[in-house]
Amino acid sequence: MAVDTMESGKHALVEVPAAVTIEEAWQLVNTAERTQKNCMMLENVCYGRDELMVLNMVRQGLFGELLHGEAAYIHELRWQMKEIEHKTGSWRTHWHAKRNGNLYPTHGLGPVSQYMNINRGDRFDYISSMSSPALGRAAYAKREFPANHERNQLNYIAGDMNTSIIKTIKGRSIMVQHDTTTPRPYSRHNLIQGTNGVFAGFPNRIALENGGSKSFHEWDYDMNDWYGKYDHPLWQKMGAEAERNGGHGGMDFLMFWRIIYCLRNGEPLDQDVYDAAAWSAVFPLSMDSVADRSNSKDFPDFTRGTWRTAAPLGIVT
Ligand SMILES: NC(=O)c1ccc[n+]([C@@H]2O[C@H](COP(=O)([O-])OP(=O)(O)OC[C@H]3O[C@@H](n4cnc5c(N)ncnc54)[C@H](O)[C@@H]3O)[C@@H](O)[C@H]2O)c1
Repeated sequence: MAVDTMESGKHALVEVPAAVTIEEAWQLVNTAERTQKNCMMLENVCYGRDELMVLNMVRQGLFGELLHGEAAYIHELRWQMKEIEHKTGSWRTHWHAKRNGNLYPTHGLGPVSQYMNINRGDRFDYISSMSSPALGRAAYAKREFPANHERNQLNYIAGDMNTSIIKTIKGRSIMVQHDTTTPRPYSRHNLIQGTNGVFAGFPNRIALENGGSKSFHEWDYDMNDWYGKYDHPLWQKMGAEAERNGGHGGMDFLMFWRIIYCLRNGEPLDQDVYDAAAWSAVFPLSMDSVADRSNSKDFPDFTRGTWRTAAPLGIVT
């Protein structure tokens, strides 16, 4: 659909993930380059208040030189297996019976990639991935559906918890986890570690060697002062309206507001086709690595070298 959209002369805005194979990711890149149309994956989490604030903190050097990030989609969604004909469970359930890897990487990974200037000074080099046993979905089906129900006929192969580690060209590491099955609280981790300290989400907490309110041995869970000092200018300007309009706490509204602003004013979108391709590529590459005893798999350089000179995403206002 995205390729057809660009071929017909329109910009394409794509839901997550933008591609489920490396070939599809290249198709998006090739088509966007040839048609000179925007192809943006709608990674709404990049517009969350906390993610925008952390990006602002990173850009101001609060954490020092960046070393390591952690990202996740940990969201118990077994109940969606009851969505049979439509909605998310109608497709997500089948991926669990088809593939073993990180089936849905971009929500946690998008913001961490922006903190690290992925495709704009650094890029993903390779990935190693490992999955736990796949037990939870079959057990849930047995408990919740009649024995002869289709949900009990599926062979669930996606490990309940998938853990991948990405190495970047600059040597940084990013842990990415996927788990939509086990009973535990929601998390996208949203962790960024630098030479001066760390921010982590779920719940938000911060520890710094220099510039923190406490010793770095202790987490500071009180975000009020940090919001006051580091809220992203976009959130300062639009946050109240975003919260009023809603959509995942306002991030959906802010994303669309920003897209429309950029298109009307001839400014580049905050996420481009190279981001869509690289972030989505974690899905197929993690599967290949899991199937190959976690041996590393290389990311293609979707930017064809321009990651070296592309300008980092600024603190837009
Ligand atoms: N960013 C977010 O926070 C967020 C939240 C939920 C869903 N999503 C994404 O939104 C997308 C849709 O999810 P959903 O829960 O609305 O699913 P859904 O099943 O409700 O909707 C998918 C629709 O696509 C149609 N469809 C399927 N295959 C098609 C094809 N080949 N050609 C044309 N149409 C086709 C289906 O008929 C269905 O109407 C997914 O990519 C999902 O990852 C994103």
